[in-house]
Amino acid sequence: MCGIVGYIGARKAQPILVEGLRRMEYRGYDSAGIAVLDDGEIQVQKAAGRLAVLERGLARDPLTGNCGIGHTRWATHGPPTTVNAHPHSAGRGNVLLVHNGIIENYETLKARLVELGHEFHTETDTEVLCHLIDEVYDGNLEHAVASALMRVEGAFGIAVIDPRDPDKIVVARRGSPLLIGVGEGEANETFVASDVAAVLDHTRQVVYLDDGELAVLTREGHEIHSLSDYGPSGTFNRVEREVKHIDWDLERIEKGGYDHFMLKEIFEQPSTIRDAMRGRLLEDDGSARLGGLRHLEEVLDRVERIVFTACGTSWHAALVGEYLIEDIARIPVEVEYASEFRYRRPIVTENTLVVAISQSGETADTLAAMREAKRQGAPVMGIVNVVGSSIARESDGGVYIHSGPEIGVASTKAFTGQLTVLALFTLLLARKRGLSLLEGRKLVAALEEIPASVEKALALDAQIATIAEEYQRHANALYLGRGYNFPVALEGALKLKEISYVHAEGYPAAEMKHGPIALIDENMPVVFIAPSDAVYPKVAANIEEVKARGGRVIAIVTEGNHDLDGKADHVIPVPATMDPLQPLLTVIPLQLLAYHIALLRGCDVDMPRNLAKSVTVE
Ligand code: G6P
Repeated sequence: MCGIVGYIGARKAQPILVEGLRRMEYRGYDSAGIAVLDDGEIQVQKAAGRLAVLERGLARDPLTGNCGIGHTRWATHGPPTTVNAHPHSAGRGNVLLVHNGIIENYETLKARLVELGHEFHTETDTEVLCHLIDEVYDGNLEHAVASALMRVEGAFGIAVIDPRDPDKIVVARRGSPLLIGVGEGEANETFVASDVAAVLDHTRQVVYLDDGELAVLTREGHEIHSLSDYGPSGTFNRVEREVKHIDWDLERIEKGGYDHFMLKEIFEQPSTIRDAMRGRLLEDDGSARLGGLRHLEEVLDRVERIVFTACGTSWHAALVGEYLIEDIARIPVEVEYASEFRYRRPIVTENTLVVAISQSGETADTLAAMREAKRQGAPVMGIVNVVGSSIARESDGGVYIHSGPEIGVASTKAFTGQLTVLALFTLLLARKRGLSLLEGRKLVAALEEIPASVEKALALDAQIATIAEEYQRHANALYLGRGYNFPVALEGALKLKEISYVHAEGYPAAEMKHGPIALIDENMPVVFIAPSDAVYPKVAANIEEVKARGGRVIAIVTEGNHDLDGKADHVIPVPATMDPLQPLLTVIPLQLLAYHIALLRGCDVDMPRNLAKSVTVE
């Protein structure tokens, strides 16, 4: 989620770097920094907070050279402070480096470097990389970088400058994108960035680096080498790569080629769900490792009751959490609207764990509910997306969902990120409370398959767009589901309501006969979430009841179930999975349906009227 930019040429680097960082702002920010080389002297400025904070510092104390690197950080490890902001260095002004990704073996490397006399000033893995490069440096920066990277496990996109070997920027990537911007016309200049948006103001000629490649950038151009070619003799072979012309406009690039942020975020879900699980699944133990819950270990052993508190989509995720934890970990759970919890004298004790769920970590009601629980002596935990947000800071422990910045007001990838973390949390609790190793392993295996299954569900997009055409003019809709899919019915209805302004209600399917059934006629589309689970036969009976009254039925089913073909008006199949994980798949077509209906109705999908992404008022 972080952004890298670099420049070497005849112009002043600072404004180009700052502008590049601004172009990546849409990805989210918590700190930023730049380093510039001027006549062999290194100048660095960093600041926590938005880019404007860095700019104020630069206005007071501008950086003057023609070669530099910049970085925006969206923290995943370590709080968003000035010290943790990039660029990092090896001390004494050597090896200035910006880095996206994670160095997995940094602790081992650090221990070795400390023995060799290196002093560290931050907790970051990036600083270790600076010292490692410094340690092997013997007069040529690209050789030092290549040699250091041979010892590194993990993912990286890096850009490095060093006053001892000036007039070049060395960049390399493995698992984290980087591209080179080729100076246009007569301009003797070269750019590097992790995101093409950062260089488009200056050039439309770009070269994408492949994994395992290193490049040396100079004013005159660039040379690409394969890291695997770097031999003991300290030589590389040159790789030739074609220059691509970019003809997209900036707006489209920011949206990753999609028409809206919401659609981009829906399609990111295979990778965001993977990111939420990364390094956390314990296959052999059939359990999960959640580092942020270290301080709550003892609480998790004794907890007698769990209360979830949240708003909006996060509240729906909490409802799935209730089903998960009661079903699998057998701990009583309640789910409270944060706005209600804070004003109604809730009963919590030191044996009640209060869990605040929030994408932004700043929702005023959720924060206030959490503080109220704390005041009453309950341990509090956060399930949050935005690192360093208020809820994350004020809770006793927590788990980040790592979904990256969510910009569309209607939450999509944060919802599935929350569900994923809730499944991991359930697994951890359940294994402490008697869930068998076998059952734990089954759940782990099923979780591992989810990203690929989400990918398959996303392939339904064209089918759903066609269905949306048929329903775009309806003024109402009903969403029905049972068990794990009841909260999904609520979420599907909320998505439609939020972005297309169609009145939609979610209900437990069997409750339909206690009221909503009176509304059913040929003008009432009913979306049934009916995968092949324990309650499927009951839901199928509800479908018959709707059809008997002339209602129009869209059914989300499990792939391979053809029972409803010919009965439902539309059947949308999603891949099979274990019942507790179904919401991760069944919600996907509902997100797409809401998106397409809103689009056809001419609504502003990313910024629906009257709504805010983060509601920081009561
Ligand atoms: C607003 C947003 C919703 C979101 C809710 C809770 O209403 O429009 O999409 O679900 O706030 O936000 P949070 O950041 O706490 O998850």
